[in-house]
Amino acid sequence: MFRYIALLLLLCTTAHASAIVDGLITNGNFEAGPKPNQLNGTVVMARNGIPSWEVSGFVEYIKSGQKQGDMMLPVPEGAFAIRLGNEASIKQCFPVEKGMYYAITFSAARTCAQDERLNVSVTPEWGVLPIQTMYSSSGWDSHAWAFKAKFDRVCLVIHNPGVEEDPACGPLIDSIAMRTLYPPRITNTNLLKNGDFEEGPYFLPETTSGVLIPPNIEDDHSPLPGWIVESLKAIKYIDSHHFSIPKGRRAVELVAGKESALGQVVRTIPGKTYTLAFSVGDAANKCVGLMTVEAYAARGIVRVPYVSKGTGGFKRAVLKFAAVSNRTRVVFLGSFYHMTTDGSLCGPVVDDVTLISTRTRPLHM
Ligand SMILES: *[C@@H]1O[C@H](CO)[C@@H](O)[C@H](O)[C@H]1NC(C)=O
Ligand SMILES: *[C@@H]1O[C@H](CO)[C@@H](O)[C@H](O)[C@H]1NC(C)=O
Ligand SMILES: *[C@@H]1O[C@H](CO)[C@@H](O)[C@H](O)[C@H]1NC(C)=O
Repeated sequence: MFRYIALLLLLCTTAHASAIVDGLITNGNFEAGPKPNQLNGTVVMARNGIPSWEVSGFVEYIKSGQKQGDMMLPVPEGAFAIRLGNEASIKQCFPVEKGMYYAITFSAARTCAQDERLNVSVTPEWGVLPIQTMYSSSGWDSHAWAFKAKFDRVCLVIHNPGVEEDPACGPLIDSIAMRTLYPPRITNTNLLKNGDFEEGPYFLPETTSGVLIPPNIEDDHSPLPGWIVESLKAIKYIDSHHFSIPKGRRAVELVAGKESALGQVVRTIPGKTYTLAFSVGDAANKCVGLMTVEAYAARGIVRVPYVSKGTGGFKRAVLKFAAVSNRTRVVFLGSFYHMTTDGSLCGPVVDDVTLISTRTRPLHM
């Protein structure tokens, strides 16, 4: 009897917390699929054909190893994925905690050469993520997007806004996960928020290529709290489970050279001097050669060279600058493009960033 109650309690708590626990959302990897009579070939014919999801438009259910023409369609996790045709979408609703921030992580692969994009939304927010650039050599990349819950129950929609001639063109999608974000605050030892990058989106355990933080121009909330990715390309968020990390469990890798800048705006006092300190290293991901990280703040700039053997390691660097206004933009970017020996975009790692105001020189000097 006692055991039965304990089990019941356990079931109740897990059921209650299920949507808020970090990890895959229900059937987020599409391993539960349509019944044979809900499929015509690979096309899902019933709106509720994929358990826990609602599909709309031309949605295909893809089995690992399936071919399209001569091309093999790999699936990054488990045995199944889906493909969204022109204007097709998938939707799932789940409970969340109103007012909290959440990051969505999912894997996507483009299938045709076109400029493919995905519109990810949770009412009333949305963001269009470009998936044209392939960062990892497998063709699959994980992408992150964040939202603030405006309601107790929300619906996630992933929509392919593309209009291609071939309806079978359109991105493949797999492994949709969610993580609660706890936006970090500045402290008296660091004027930057999330300077150690420990707070960020969920890492899909089966994917070994990190999570892309997209350029955030249209997004209200960054999946990497405190930080904004400026310019055109994404930066990569990496974890100690798969990569070498200078400090803690998470860091960023600047994978798009000068095409991608990671920035944060901080409050400063004009005339006061500040010290920006950070680590530059490599992720032990076969990314070798001379790498350079550039850091900018106010009128200060530092270029930090780092020679990577691709086996991990890092060094510390410092930029001292005088603030010229109330707000100072701190920016990091990589000077060059790099590629791993297996053909993935890669670059220097930045981690453990601190900004402190330095005691100003006494006036009598
Ligand atoms: C299944 O698809 C084929 C073309 O691929 C089409 O001719 C046929 O009408 C479809 N069947 C149903 C039941 O929609
Ligand atoms: C993205 O989807 C949202 C929600 O459906 C919609 O309001 C928004 O207009 C879409 N944006 C684009 C660029 O298609
Ligand atoms: C800085 O802030 C103060 C007070 O908030 C304001 O008076 C001043 O104009 C601001 N200066 C700049 C350069 O923005």
